[in-house]
Amino acid sequence: MNQSSRYSRRSVLSLAAGAFLSASGALLPSGGSFAAEAPRAALVYFSRTGTTAGLARMVAEASGAEVFELKLVDPYSDDYSAMTGIARSERSRNARRELAKPLPDLSGFDLIFLGSPYWWGGLSIPVRTFLMDNPLAGKRVAPFVVSASSSPEGAWEDLREFCPQARILPGFHTVQSAASGARGDITAWVKSCLEARQGL
Ligand SMILES: Cc1cc2nc3c(=O)[nH]c(=O)nc-3n(C[C@H](O)[C@H](O)[C@H](O)COP(=O)(O)O)c2cc1C
Repeated sequence: MNQSSRYSRRSVLSLAAGAFLSASGALLPSGGSFAAEAPRAALVYFSRTGTTAGLARMVAEASGAEVFELKLVDPYSDDYSAMTGIARSERSRNARRELAKPLPDLSGFDLIFLGSPYWWGGLSIPVRTFLMDNPLAGKRVAPFVVSASSSPEGAWEDLREFCPQARILPGFHTVQSAASGARGDITAWVKSCLEARQGL
């Protein structure tokens, strides 16, 4: 059974096309031997209305990763219509949205689960801001993204742009309406990330 057939249409394991198709990126078959040490995993996420946060809790429970939530110095309005144009403009200008300190120190981690809502065709502005300063060079990055309805390709493209020296693992995407029921799929995805070959 291939991977795509194991996932529903609404909660799919999307290949980060072109970023993970080398032989070194292939998952080991079940029963294969992995490096003796489990990867040191961190989870970094931003969530404005709580959906990504819910997925982050599932990822944390499945992985044991240390969790870091990105927060803003100047949070967006709770009102979607008041803030969405601002976020769109920030994206088109490649602008930053300053993050509250303390920022995650990821120096001791080699696998980074990275969670973001999908905004205007890509990663949310706070996650983009984080990656501008932390391009995660030399890390394995396991992205998970939630959208209202869009497919997540723009998020994987953003990651390749912002993290050119990271190894981007196949990402997990779900639509918002299916997020609360995604535990089974996201747990399987986390397992595949933890079992991916060590190294770059
Ligand atoms: C500024 C902004 C832009 C968005 N752009 C998109 C989009 O392009 N496609 C889409 O399907 N959903 C889009 N959404 C919807 C969010 O991806 C969706 O509501 C998500 O579940 C929010 O996650 P959160 O609850 O963790 O903040 C957008 C939401 C916001 C606030």
